[in-house]
Amino acid sequence: MDVYEAVASRRAVRGFTDRPVPKEVFQRVLSAAARAPSGSNLQPWNIYVLTGNPLAELKKRAGERLTSGDPWDEAEYTQYPLTLRTPYRERRAAFGEQRYGALGIAREDIEARQRAASANWDCFGAPAALFCYIDRDLGRPQWSDAGMYLQTVMLLLRAEGLHSCTQMAWAKFHKTVAEITCPPDDLILFCGMSIGYEDPTVTYTRTGRAPLDETVTFIDGS
Ligand SMILES: Cc1cc2nc3c(=O)[nH]c(=O)nc-3n(C[C@H](O)[C@H](O)[C@H](O)COP(=O)(O)O)c2cc1C
Repeated sequence: MDVYEAVASRRAVRGFTDRPVPKEVFQRVLSAAARAPSGSNLQPWNIYVLTGNPLAELKKRAGERLTSGDPWDEAEYTQYPLTLRTPYRERRAAFGEQRYGALGIAREDIEARQRAASANWDCFGAPAALFCYIDRDLGRPQWSDAGMYLQTVMLLLRAEGLHSCTQMAWAKFHKTVAEITCPPDDLILFCGMSIGYEDPTVTYTRTGRAPLDETVTFIDGS
């Protein structure tokens, strides 16, 4: 698959079939993704891949927490600033409208939005998920390295006919994830990623993007 095609066809898929993802595919994708760049080649990503019973158990435990109204775990990092300023506030609002609009959920229907969001903790039905941890001592450049690694994984998954959805939502239940992954204490859960074959019956709206001149400045002397 051409790189442009991989980038264009990657999107956050939120509906998967239960068709399993063979372990060899993960080995191929994650071996290739290890070529992702990182400052001083630190390779600061720590990845746990869950399938089968361990993933089923995680989904079950997360589901139980949701239904019992258990509050989120104490945050280990700030996901978004408390107040998002322009243009981020508007972009987030547009995303919410696209995401929930595709499901026929009105802006003011907070309960229905929460119900839809709760599918995060079922990995949107995916049969596989990976969890990306980063050392709590590392700083912003290393978090950025982890992001590059994750995008590399997502593009390689496209080459395998697979789709994905990165999920910071899992950080809200990081203790439950840790019950299954048992990471060393010095690691923070950055995010999960649901992985599998897309369920084509699930409706979605393709997210938009800001025009190029909002995010890119060419300085070429002309
Ligand atoms: C770091 C990160 C965390 C994300 N967390 C979630 C999440 O918890 N739940 C979710 O449904 N989507 C999540 N997303 C997906 C974004 O909403 C999505 O990438 C964005 O809206 C752009 O849409 P697209 O990926 O379909 O192009 C996350 C994406 C990234 C990169």
